[in-house]
Amino acid sequence: MDHFHYRDGVLHCEDVALPAIAEAVGTPVYVYSAATFRRHAQVFRDGLSGVGAKHLAYAIKANPNLAVLRVLADEGYGADVVSGGEMARALAAGMRPEDIVFSGVGKTRGELGCALDAGLGQFNLELEEEGVVLGSLAADRGMRAPATLRVNPDVDAGTHAKISTGKRENKFGVPIDQAATMFGRLAGVGGLDLRGVAIHIGSQLADLAPLAAAYRRIGALVAELRTAGHAITRVDLGGGLGVPYRSSDVIPSPADYGAMVAEVTRDWDVELMFEPGRVIAGNAGVLLTEVVWVKPGVTDPYVIVDAAMNDLARPALYDAYHDFVAVKPSGERMVANIAGPVCESGDTFAMGRDIDRVVSGDLAVFRTAGAYGATMASTYNSRALVPEVLVDGDRFAVVADRIEPETILAAERVPEWLMPKNLEG
Ligand code: LLP
Repeated sequence: MDHFHYRDGVLHCEDVALPAIAEAVGTPVYVYSAATFRRHAQVFRDGLSGVGAKHLAYAIKANPNLAVLRVLADEGYGADVVSGGEMARALAAGMRPEDIVFSGVGKTRGELGCALDAGLGQFNLELEEEGVVLGSLAADRGMRAPATLRVNPDVDAGTHAKISTGKRENKFGVPIDQAATMFGRLAGVGGLDLRGVAIHIGSQLADLAPLAAAYRRIGALVAELRTAGHAITRVDLGGGLGVPYRSSDVIPSPADYGAMVAEVTRDWDVELMFEPGRVIAGNAGVLLTEVVWVKPGVTDPYVIVDAAMNDLARPALYDAYHDFVAVKPSGERMVANIAGPVCESGDTFAMGRDIDRVVSGDLAVFRTAGAYGATMASTYNSRALVPEVLVDGDRFAVVADRIEPETILAAERVPEWLMPKNLEG
């Protein structure tokens, strides 16, 4: 459930009419609903009520906006981070270092050192060598780094290949058949406090079966590690639960997911860590855009909007579907292609889609754009970096500025030897 709804024929985010935001901030602009973030945070937590000790670490890659992180910190969420930049955001938002998990397949030595200095609560190791390096960095500081070993369970998550992470050939984790021996070696590394294992098999999962299968494999591994004499106190179950992008999508609810987790992990006797991203952020945001032109096409017309693949990359990258609705629907429909202004045919959001009839100057939104939207934006075609607005009841604020092309241009330089004589000095 989200807080985007029509009131008197006009799409609102909570109590704010979207045209008011377009008027104040311009388009394209991401609009987030604080109430929806809070609700999703609560629903996910409630879904896990049958699970004992747990820690919720929001995967901030889904939407790392500082204001969003504040909302989630107030909901008691920590963070799952994958870079020094994400760590800095989580800390800046007021999350406690011990509530932050550091994941990621390519953490640099510099990032590991900073994270130790900041006192992060958990490092998810992706390879044995990383554990050895982390251990020595921690020992140099007179510390022991709390860690888990990320295991690749070799399970097909049944999602898009580019966001599948739990198959043997993916770059993530250590092979499950080598995990116990590797764990044994890492347990002997001074400076490392190896507490358990971690897993994350993919994103936008619409079926609980692969998750349950992967978790069962992890359960068997935990038992094997305990038999070998290791104290296992933590298992990180990652994120991945999908969200409905179409009204016809059937996705397990957080309650379904929680019931499965409670069942599979019943005898584990560990603290469980969760790293939800999309399920918290996806339906909490829309990308508000204006129709620039409606251009005749061979079969269907092209609705050219002022948002493009640089603002919302998911359709171009993963053929992702985002619902497109008019802010003030007339009740009439049309079949159209929806595209942005970028000079690539890939800058197409939909082909042959049945949508609200729109004309030049109309406002519309791409729905379910709160996760992996603004954070994946670029300035391709020297377009502005898209701004973000947070709505909270009847208030709204710009929570990320539009970065204008001039600002980006100002950060570039022509070296002195390339300057034309007439521009020198
Ligand atoms: N934990 C780890 C280690 C991850 O790699 C991810 C996502 C998550 C948690 C959060 O997964 P979620 O709950 O959001 O599914 N850009 C893609 C999604 C990439 C997901 C990467 N890892 C998209 O737009 O669909």
